[in-house]
Amino acid sequence: VGTGGVGKTSLSAAIALAGAGAGRRAAVLTIDPARALGRALGMRALGAELERVVSTPGSLDVGMLEQASAWDAFIRRHAPSRAVEETILANTFYRQLSRRFSGSTEYVALEELCRLHESGRYDLIVLDTPPAAHALDFLRAPARVDRFLEAASASLSSRAQPLVARVLGRVERATGSETFHELAALLTSFQGLFAAVRLRSGESRALAAGDLTAFVLVVGPEANAIAGARELESQMTALGVRLKAIVQNRTHPLPAPLAAASETAPLEAELLARGAPPANLAWIRQAHRSYLAIASAEERHWQALRTSLPANVVSVRVPELGHDLHSLDDLAEVGRLLFTE
Ligand SMILES: Nc1ncnc2c1ncn2[C@@H]1O[C@H](COP(=O)(O)OP(=O)(O)OP(=O)(O)O)[C@@H](O)[C@H]1O
Ligand SMILES: [Mg+2]
Repeated sequence: VGTGGVGKTSLSAAIALAGAGAGRRAAVLTIDPARALGRALGMRALGAELERVVSTPGSLDVGMLEQASAWDAFIRRHAPSRAVEETILANTFYRQLSRRFSGSTEYVALEELCRLHESGRYDLIVLDTPPAAHALDFLRAPARVDRFLEAASASLSSRAQPLVARVLGRVERATGSETFHELAALLTSFQGLFAAVRLRSGESRALAAGDLTAFVLVVGPEANAIAGARELESQMTALGVRLKAIVQNRTHPLPAPLAAASETAPLEAELLARGAPPANLAWIRQAHRSYLAIASAEERHWQALRTSLPANVVSVRVPELGHDLHSLDDLAEVGRLLFTE
């Protein structure tokens, strides 16, 4: 989990690949991966079943959830009959809701995790999470979907339903809109699904909170990301899930020989000897000072964060690689950085 763009998808793939490298039967379920990463993983089709991209020493299967169609796939799996499935999928209200309802991808991703887990085919399943403004949106999604289903279910079974239908019918005639009619049709079709979905959401929540599951929080190197991380940790604990590790991605560490301002002297002497103009040296000193300031600020914030987290939370930093991750080799390198620090 983590906020938008911090590297969740890349790190998920790198963790799963490292698992395969260690001999595990690994799977990673990515969500809307950057195109370059999708190619790197050798993924062909959207929404396809898992594809094997590495087969030795362990194995790595990659799946991809596309936000737009995740909910459709879910409906297909759980609808009690083809007729119900088709009614739901063709419903205008459903189509709008499923495309806009925040939390639906999270919900579907969790249920997919359950499915892979139950298959018994994997030793390690890494679940990526969708871009979110807030890292905890992912964990709150099942509760939100449950509440929606409960409300929908209650409105269906309510004695007031005929009255509601009459009122809605009038509104519909007055406004010429089909929305209410569509909504009513959707809710009726959904009724057959409620039981299955409820059961599933209970199971996915139990799996997420269980001992087999570990959450990895990804944060950027900025000071505010770090301040947020501490709060997140306590909120996760309150939600009953275990934060196993925190990864600070895209950091700017200084190579040891250059870690002090004075230590650029040998480099400068060498450049001068090679005929570099003195003005360039001034620029290099300036760039070095800026980088040093960034690196030491990041280091300070990171140390502060580490000391404020419970001792059993593993913390790892992954440096900025200076280029996008677009090959299995790139992911393998991230894996090494993650697991050998
Ligand atoms: N350590 C790194 N060094 C260099 N580039 C990186 C690093 N980690 C991630 N990136 C790049 O950052 C971009 C965003 O990464 P990624 O797609 O994994 O983030 P995300 O958290 O999944 O984003 P979203 O929230 O949009 O799903 C990608 O282009 C990726 O190649
Ligand atoms: Mg992503």
